Amino acid sequence: MKAAVAGVFDRSADTYEQLGPEYFGPMGRALAARAAPRPGERVLDLGCGRGHCLVPLAEAVGPQGRVVGIDLAPGMVAATADDARRRGLSQVDVRVGDAAEPAVEPGSFDLVTAGFVIFFMPDPAAAAGAWLRALRPGGRLAISTFNGQDPNYEHLMKVVGAFLPQQQDRPRFELFRTAESVTAVLDEVGFQDVEHEHVTFETRFTGPDQWWEWIGSHGGRATLERLPEDRVEDARAAAYEAMEAARTPDGALAIYTEVRYTTARRP
Ligand SMILES: C[S@@+](CC[C@H](N)C(=O)[O-])C[C@H]1O[C@@H](n2cnc3c(N)ncnc32)[C@H](O)[C@@H]1O
Repeated sequence: MKAAVAGVFDRSADTYEQLGPEYFGPMGRALAARAAPRPGERVLDLGCGRGHCLVPLAEAVGPQGRVVGIDLAPGMVAATADDARRRGLSQVDVRVGDAAEPAVEPGSFDLVTAGFVIFFMPDPAAAAGAWLRALRPGGRLAISTFNGQDPNYEHLMKVVGAFLPQQQDRPRFELFRTAESVTAVLDEVGFQDVEHEHVTFETRFTGPDQWWEWIGSHGGRATLERLPEDRVEDARAAAYEAMEAARTPDGALAIYTEVRYTTARRP
């Protein structure tokens, strides 16, 4: 599962959030805002992807601070390291590594963040325990999960999924569908002051082609890559038909994603 996730994100690194529709960008900035980084702080951003949370964190901690980004996918790490260099963010250090057991000095961070990552962890409580140990006493955690997926998007992915030869292993989004499920994991490992906030984001596509390409630019790629070659066009046609349900009065296609932002503190 881990190798499969790394492969999918590695192959999507070049197009991740680069195709036009805004999705991870605003969601990552919102996570960074809730994490409330202060100048000079040391931050660990797990599953940093293309840096949509990491870059705003780095800007906030400034050159006296430090942000370590860790991701399983080498393509994500290379692209984000490049981007940080181009922006002159010398406080950023991006490495290939496993968020489930980050290889960092215990107690060495003021803040740990993980945007849309906990559901990839084979044992989420064990991972959360490792995140707690990376923090100094009093250090903060800020993570995001999906509170709800757009019903039109969910239906669309079911329509496409019906063309797959067999069921695929999927990230376990459903484990964290409720705020209580996130609280339970964080409580279990000893986090305190667990709080949640829910924000709905609109994502607009210029048309079916852009939406289809976008699905392949992130974790949805796992589904598209598994379509048998001789079924791709049928799957695409069925998907385009399903997309019509998301048509807005002004002719665009839009989905609405409810994101949960959770903050907590190490005692
Ligand atoms: C949905 S993306 C989110 C990226 C970024 N945090 C954001 O908000 O845009 C999930 C990221 O987690 C990474 N990932 C998944 N499992 C991981 C693991 N065990 N260790 C480190 N990174 C992981 C993926 O490679 C991918 O870049």
